[in-house]
Amino acid sequence: MLSYRVNPELELRLLQAPDAAALFALVDANRASLRTWLAWVDGMVNRIEADKFIARATRDHQATRAFSAGIWWSGRLVGVIGHNHIDWTVRIANPGWWLVPAAEGRGLMTQCCRVFFNHAFTQLQVNRIVVGVATGNLRGQAIVQRLGFTPVRTLVKAEWLNGRAVDHFIFSLLPSGGKAGPADAGPSTRPRL
Ligand SMILES: CC(C)(COP(=O)(O)OP(=O)(O)OC[C@H]1O[C@@H](n2cnc3c(N)ncnc32)[C@H](O)[C@@H]1OP(=O)(O)O)[C@@H](O)C(=O)NCCC(=O)NCCS
Repeated sequence: MLSYRVNPELELRLLQAPDAAALFALVDANRASLRTWLAWVDGMVNRIEADKFIARATRDHQATRAFSAGIWWSGRLVGVIGHNHIDWTVRIANPGWWLVPAAEGRGLMTQCCRVFFNHAFTQLQVNRIVVGVATGNLRGQAIVQRLGFTPVRTLVKAEWLNGRAVDHFIFSLLPSGGKAGPADAGPSTRPRL
């Protein structure tokens, strides 16, 4: 998924080195709100950190371990969606996503997630998608519930966030709401990301 147009105004595009300035500017301008639920925000202190993030994402993409796509809305970068990790031995993907507040409340992320997860099941042939959402993160939980994820457990003290240990609800999604994957592909086949 190098680039995908979700609708005329909304596009997902693999983050690349020239996007670092826009990524840093976006995070820096929305630092106060983003840091509420995203632990990495405090570490992105300058443009160099954005360069490093994209370089790491590019390496992970080349190694088919993970990938991160920018979310462009009316031509402006407004967030990121990615697979933080794909475990090919069991074909489980662990995605993550964020939007700046100015782009919230319009269903943009729900649409992006739908496309992204459909791609994961049909193109990448993952067998399951698993995501942890902080128990206090109601907007984060609303998305996974809207998309049909099932809560499977609570992971106590799953993350260190703003000086405290935070619990996660772990949600899981199977293709077609619970059936086995299209091919139940095993570890040997690794598609291009
Ligand atoms: C999680 C996050 C992306 C949610 O943003 P969001 O705007 O609530 O999500 P969506 O873009 O899907 O929009 C849903 C909202 O748009 C509304 N909406 C409007 N049109 C819609 C449509 N066609 N489809 C779905 N929702 C629509 C919904 O009612 C909802 O608004 P509400 O919460 O006021 O009821 C954002 O809050 C965020 O980035 N948080 C920090 C990072 C984070 O928590 N990430 C998740 C953990 S991995």
